[in-house]
Formats: sequence, C-alpha cells, structure tokens
Amino acid sequence: MDVLLIPFVFLHLVFLRELLASGADGGELIIWKLHPSETNQSWKVHKSLSFHRKDVLDLQWSPDDAYLISGSVDNSCIIWDVNKGSVHQILDAHCHYVQGVAWDPLAKYVASLSSDRTCRIYVNKPQTKSKGVEKMNYVCQHVIMKADQQRGDESKTIKTHLFHDETLPSFFRRLSWSPDGSFLLIPAGSFKVLPTSEAVNATYVFSRKDLSRPALQLPGASKPVVVVRFCSVAFKLRGSNSAEEGFFKLPYRLVFAIATLNSVYIYDTECVAPVAVLAGLHYAAITDITWSPNASYLALSSQDGYCTVVEFEDNELGESIPISVGKKPVDSEEKQHHIGKTDELMTETRPAESNKLAEAEQNEESKQPLPSLVTTDGKDKEHHVMQKTDEVMTETRQEEEKQPMQSKVNTPVSNKPARKRITPMAIDP
Ligand SMILES: *[C@@H]1O[C@H](CO)[C@@H](O)[C@H](O)[C@H]1NC(C)=O
Ligand SMILES: *[C@@H]1O[C@H](CO)[C@@H](O)[C@H](O)[C@H]1NC(C)=O
Ligand SMILES: *[C@@H]1O[C@H](CO)[C@@H](O)[C@H](O)[C@H]1NC(C)=O
Repeated sequence: MDVLLIPFVFLHLVFLRELLASGADGGELIIWKLHPSETNQSWKVHKSLSFHRKDVLDLQWSPDDAYLISGSVDNSCIIWDVNKGSVHQILDAHCHYVQGVAWDPLAKYVASLSSDRTCRIYVNKPQTKSKGVEKMNYVCQHVIMKADQQRGDESKTIKTHLFHDETLPSFFRRLSWSPDGSFLLIPAGSFKVLPTSEAVNATYVFSRKDLSRPALQLPGASKPVVVVRFCSVAFKLRGSNSAEEGFFKLPYRLVFAIATLNSVYIYDTECVAPVAVLAGLHYAAITDITWSPNASYLALSSQDGYCTVVEFEDNELGESIPISVGKKPVDSEEKQHHIGKTDELMTETRPAESNKLAEAEQNEESKQPLPSLVTTDGKDKEHHVMQKTDEVMTETRQEEEKQPMQSKVNTPVSNKPARKRITPMAIDP
C-alpha cells in the first residue's frame, strides 16, 4: 500500500494557448480545451491520455506542440502524440520515480531526472518508416550519475554520486533547458567537496556542447534544490561581466529561478551571485515555479496549499531583446536552419542585435575558453568558485537586509496577514 504524505491531489498543469495539459495522481493525463464565450471562459476535457500506471509527477509540451512528455511514479517517461491521443514512445530505463522531464527547445534532446540518482539525456534518432516518413525516436545518449572526485591525498580519484538519493523530501526534481537550448540546468544535486565534508546542495549546469557531465555547479543552497525554471525572455547584457565571472558566454542575458524546498534564488547568466533571494514565503515545501511569458511575474506553488506571485517592475530585470529560436518553424527545413544557427551561436555567430557586445565577447572568448569547473582534477577550481559564490552571496544578503528586493510580492489567496508572510528575507546561513 502506498503511504501518501500529502493530503491533497497533485495537479500539474501546462498551458498551450487554448490547450492545457494536466497530469495527476492515478496516472491519467487530460488535455483541456478552452471554450471562450462573452461572459465566461470554461475549460472542457478535450482528450484523456491513459497509460501511466501510477501518479504523474511532471510533463512538458514538445517545442512544436504536437507531443507531450510525462514522467511518473511508475518509473517511466511517456512521449505522447497529442493529435492521435496515443503513446508514441515509452522510455522506461529509470529504476525509481521519474520526477522531472524537459524537452530541448530545439527538439533534439529530451531529459529526465529520477530519484534513482540519475539524469538521462535522450537524443532524437528518427527511424525511417515506409514511404520515407521519419518517425521521431529518442534513444538514451547519456546517463549522468557520478563524477570523479579526488581524494585528499591527491593521488587517486573516486566516483561520487551527483544527485540526492530517494530520501530527498520532495516529489519533484524539475529540470529546465534555457530557452535557446544552450544550457540544461538540473536540480537535486548533492556533492561533497571532500569525502568528510557535509554534502552541498547544488544545481548543475550542463552546456549543450557536452551533455555528458556538468560544466558548473551552483551551490550555496541550505536545502535541496527541487525546481529550476528559465524565463523565456532574453535581456540585454548589462556589460558588468568580468572575465572570470562569465561562464555563460551568451550575446544576451537569460534569467532563471531556482527553488529549494524553502526558498527561491533568481539568477542571471551574467553574474555568479543570485540577483535576488526570496525566503520565508511558505509554510511547506515549494513544489513548482513558473515565469509569465513576458517575465513580469514569477509564480510559485507550495504544499501548504498557497501560491505566491512575485511581480517585477518594468525593466527591473532589464531590457528584453529577441532570441533567435523559432518556436514554431514553418517546416522542417526552417527548423534545421534554426538549430544550426543556435549551435553556431554557442561558438561564434551572434545575432545582429548585439553585434558590438558579441564582438567584444568573442575576442575574450578566443583568448579564454569556457571554464569547465567540474573536472577530474578540478578540485581547486571548484573550491575557488564555491568560495567565491559564498562570498558574493553574503554580500547579496547584506544588501538585501538593508534594502529588500523591490518587487511587489502578492499572495492573493492567502488569508494570513500578507505583509508579514511575503516580505522577502535573507536566508539564515
Ligand atoms: C461559466 O460557465 C460554467 C460552465 O459552462 C457555468 O457553470 C457557470 O455558471 C458560468 N458562470 C457564469 C458567471 O456565467
Ligand atoms: C543540504 O541539504 C540537507 C538536507 O536538507 C541539509 O541537511 C544540509 O545541511 C544541506 N547542506 C548544506 C551545505 O547546506
Ligand atoms: C505582462 O503581462 C501582464 C498580463 O498579461 C500585463 O498586465 C503586463 O502589463 C505585461 N507587462 C509587460 C512589461 O509587458
């Protein structure tokens, strides 16, 4: 018999214009359709997708909106053909709950994260069917589980786990690709700097150029990280990027939020330290976070039954600029084009909008390759970055104590005295 820790039914919702997908306890997925009318809006069941034998923990639409991927307590991921309402492919190699799934915005990869302490990255190797029609087919390319770590005596390395085991007190490990596909951020990281030291709770950053191992870790969280979400809007670079700080070499600035069980860290790709830290918002674990399409709001949900909406003032995060990733390519040729473009962008091509900055950056880049901070011999470097992050975080905290983040934070459904509950606070170290 299952022991249910949570007194309510999970419902995971993913919007797609007039369609909404939900997955719930029991394993059923429902596609809802919006029926607008002059006075009223109502969502009606459009399709019901049944195949999972147990609760669905995460789901995401494919970039072309034709498919859904879901992850479940039955240890499997299913890729659904939404138009046919049928199972397209089952990915069943995990040996514990699948707690997060993420579809690459360029549709080349999907990734899943499980409480079996592995992240699996699958690549699309289309099968050619009769009549030359290609059928989408994902095959596992990487199983990310352990990393080399040097022992104290410097002579030998040991393999250590990268992720929390199944005792992590969260049903979710929601991973996220950056909107341009250049980075994959994976939560639920746990590693020891030294075999004897306390485990650090981290988020791993994977570069699209090498998805076999993390390139960087964002440590500093006092609780396990359960959700990572990128904002889909890109912003102009602030130009404050000093050479040793800049890991994300991008012609624009992306913003992402990381939720631990009890706080939310907002980062951008131009700075090692978080832009803001929100804590003390909820009485129970945070379960999910999401950005509004125009980056004005960040919503978070919690097991305490409340949602919080964080509002950003105009231009508080910066000036938005377009990213050149086609969400809806007209045909596959155009898609190819987009993919090529973004892959190049990782190395040298920059979109016209930010030519100047890009040039400067390119020069810098040619002198200085992308740092790769998790390496077999990278203990010192790792340490350095961690210390640095800790330092900056302390600074951030102090600043925040003096002057809390200027966002308005609304908790519309709360019946508690709102002001007290929602004031962003610095985290106790
Ligand atoms: C809105 O639509 C629902 C379902 O169609 C109906 O039950 C409800 O009464 C409507 N509300 C209003 C305010 O018209
Ligand atoms: C990481 O999270 C665990 C579980 O909450 C906690 O016991 C531990 O102290 C955290 N590690 C650090 C370095 O904060
Ligand atoms: C973002 O969207 C919300 C709701 O759709 C709207 O109220 C707000 O003005 C928008 N903000 C910007 C900066 O466009």
